[in-house]
Amino acid sequence: MKEKIAEIVKAISNESVKNTEELERFRIKYLGSKNVIKHLFSELKNVPNESKKEVGQLLNGLKNHAQEQFDVIKIKLENSSSEESVIDTSRPGDQIEVGSRHPLSLVRSEIIEIFDRIGFTVSEGPEIEDDWHNFSALNFPPEHPARDMQDTFFIEKGTNEMALRTHTSSVQVRVMENEKPPIRTISPGRVYRNEAISARAHCFFHQVEGLYIDKDVSFADLKQTLLYFAQEMFGEKAQIRLRPSYFPFTEPSAEVDVSCTICNSKGCNVCKYTGWLEILGCGMVDPNVLESSNIDSKTYSGFAFGMGVERIAQLKYRVNDLRLYSENDIRFLKQFTSGI
Ligand code: DAH
Repeated sequence: MKEKIAEIVKAISNESVKNTEELERFRIKYLGSKNVIKHLFSELKNVPNESKKEVGQLLNGLKNHAQEQFDVIKIKLENSSSEESVIDTSRPGDQIEVGSRHPLSLVRSEIIEIFDRIGFTVSEGPEIEDDWHNFSALNFPPEHPARDMQDTFFIEKGTNEMALRTHTSSVQVRVMENEKPPIRTISPGRVYRNEAISARAHCFFHQVEGLYIDKDVSFADLKQTLLYFAQEMFGEKAQIRLRPSYFPFTEPSAEVDVSCTICNSKGCNVCKYTGWLEILGCGMVDPNVLESSNIDSKTYSGFAFGMGVERIAQLKYRVNDLRLYSENDIRFLKQFTSGI
């Protein structure tokens, strides 16, 4: 009997189980209802009484051994099927899709780079602004229509004190309050106007403000800076023209057109057959604005300009509908090369 037990122990160790069918065969043989160990148990009654206890313990040990072996093999098989055989480490990895940058972000970066090359730093200010920085310090008279509810989103009901900034000119004021001339900075950012949304107007859009203050800054410096910008942005053949205009914070003021890049100034429906496209507003900083921020207007002069990022993007990418910029339509967005 003891020999038979030893034989089965040896047989169990020699079993090589490679798959679930072989494991099932192992189970039937050693643990099933008619297994070999059970058979030995039934023969226990023939063992002499003095050896019964010892042989019984050996049989119980054998039974436990068979169960343990079964469990170990089963776990091994499960692990190997879920990991080793499924993961092929030589396979190339899944490709990660790289997104593209938003066209407004591309244009914004390009504007920043162009002005960076001539020494302009970037300044930022809050989108929720007070009346002083958005209007009063910029020489807007109290009754100016731009303060009207139609143009401005006021934050608190019944007061005109806090509003979503209507232009990035507010950052000019903050920079002048905090820094001493010479000042050479641009301020890109989002602005808000209470407008009905259409292809040509939106309740929010983006601007880049420019400000240069030093001794003896002249209108010629302004013109040359804007010509440099136009040629860097639209190509070296680009020309600019300045038309007299009015802004409360600049005197004199001008609106700037760039020669139509689409038809080479020959006339097309984008430039409405004029050969020119309006791109920004500018002027010499009004002495009242300098004085409001404690800059001596007798010692210093400066120029400022403000442009719409959507407008520049529209001319660069010929996107005619402003709504496309904020609808997140993937078919629109993926057309812009990432540059990353
Ligand atoms: N703030 C003006 C606007 O939102 C744009 C502008 C015009 C900015 C002339 C300037 C400037 O700095 O000099 O329409």
